[in-house]
Amino acid sequence: MTDKTPYQDSLPALERAWKLASAYVAGLPERPVAQPVTPEEMQAALDEPLAESGCDPAAAVEEWFDRAERGIVASSGPRFFGYVIGGTTPAALAGDWLAATIDQDAGLWDATPASVHTELVVLRWLKELFDLPRAWTGTMATSATHANLIGLAAARQWTGQQRGFDPADDGLGGQPAIPVISSTEIHMSARKSLSTLGLGRSSLTTVPATDGSVDLDALQAALDATDGACIVIANAGEVNTGAFDPLDAVADLCDAHPGGVWLHVDGAFGLFARLLADKAANLDGIERANSVAVDAHKWLNVPYDSGFAFVSDEAALTNAFRSSAAYIPEGDYPDPGAQVPEMSRRFRGLPAWCALKAYGREGYAALVQRCVDNAALLGRWIEASDDFELLAPVNLNIVCFRYAPSGVSDGKLDDLNRRLITAVQHDGRAFVTPTTWGGKGAIRAAFDNWATSDADVEILWAALNEVGNELI
Ligand SMILES: Cc1ncc(COP(=O)(O)O)c(C=O)c1O
Repeated sequence: MTDKTPYQDSLPALERAWKLASAYVAGLPERPVAQPVTPEEMQAALDEPLAESGCDPAAAVEEWFDRAERGIVASSGPRFFGYVIGGTTPAALAGDWLAATIDQDAGLWDATPASVHTELVVLRWLKELFDLPRAWTGTMATSATHANLIGLAAARQWTGQQRGFDPADDGLGGQPAIPVISSTEIHMSARKSLSTLGLGRSSLTTVPATDGSVDLDALQAALDATDGACIVIANAGEVNTGAFDPLDAVADLCDAHPGGVWLHVDGAFGLFARLLADKAANLDGIERANSVAVDAHKWLNVPYDSGFAFVSDEAALTNAFRSSAAYIPEGDYPDPGAQVPEMSRRFRGLPAWCALKAYGREGYAALVQRCVDNAALLGRWIEASDDFELLAPVNLNIVCFRYAPSGVSDGKLDDLNRRLITAVQHDGRAFVTPTTWGGKGAIRAAFDNWATSDADVEILWAALNEVGNELI
């Protein structure tokens, strides 16, 4: 037996990565959230010819960090409020490191019984956390987009079968169309999933949404105009306002539709409202859905990339994704890879297991409550301000607003808000992103990070006001 194995060569590189990572994590609250950098500057910092002879792995890790640092955004830090981006809790980060180290292929039971069973436990815990029907089948996914794809693939399968064909086996060519209905506020990721599934990102029928929430009369009319089985996509947490479609009422309309409806719910971040006594009613009726898509890298605060999907009809899910080959015989135990688009998969269950174990139901309820309270705090300051205007009620964790100081004409406000967002991003104290709401150029601040405190909200508010003042 030799003293040294080739794997021991990993240790100096891991030590270097540990030093960089621990300094990064410790410095997250103080680090500028983002720094202005152009694509040309990043290209100059990183691009070079492929190495012929290579170098010491530890040096490679360190060199990358030094060269890339200006383009690293502290999006897992406490003052990143753009898009809908969660942080990474200590337990999840440690779990993710271990997942990379043991490098399991969580698509195959034989390849990794521990990972497959961890994932199953996580999925059961999530059903308990959100009080979802325990009989639902769950899968871990890379994101809410991927979870939307998984849920809608099961939806396509079921709806096609109701219409007399098998979409996965037969394909869609020459078959009856599969109608899909949603509100105009459907998330772009669900549209992207529809395009990937051959259902068409534009053949979707959209009906109006009032303040982000589907108009039930319009949905009823769209269902009345649809013959036979179809798919309805509902929002549990609209991305600009956090508004919810009334799921129970939507499910009533679906139940009454001749031919049947597969109800898919995008609850990427909104499902977490289920953890709060005064917000949970927004999700009444979720148990009547046929599939639900959720993100884990948002409010579960596990590292990228991670999400999960739940499906009520396991056969529809398995028929959508099953595949076989001589070199991968079907075992006694179902392979997770048989219920998702990919075969080989990262062990996403481990960071989620560590986080759910470390923080439990109470820890997550407190995390979600803190985010909702912080969003409400910013909302109150905006309402009380002469210079800012709230564009939608703060329904959950998203604040949609604009800068509208007196003396600036309405026609100039969209441009002013765009410039304010860029200037705040360059300022580095906080990070917000743009949207449009009610035809007005708007600023979005989303609260999804476990570590954001009210002091961080104060810093955001100071940055918005000070940078705004400088602009006018
Ligand atoms: C409602 C909703 N659905 C889906 C997504 C897509 O999530 P991801 O980018 O993780 O795929 C988002 C992202 O913000 C979202 O807010």
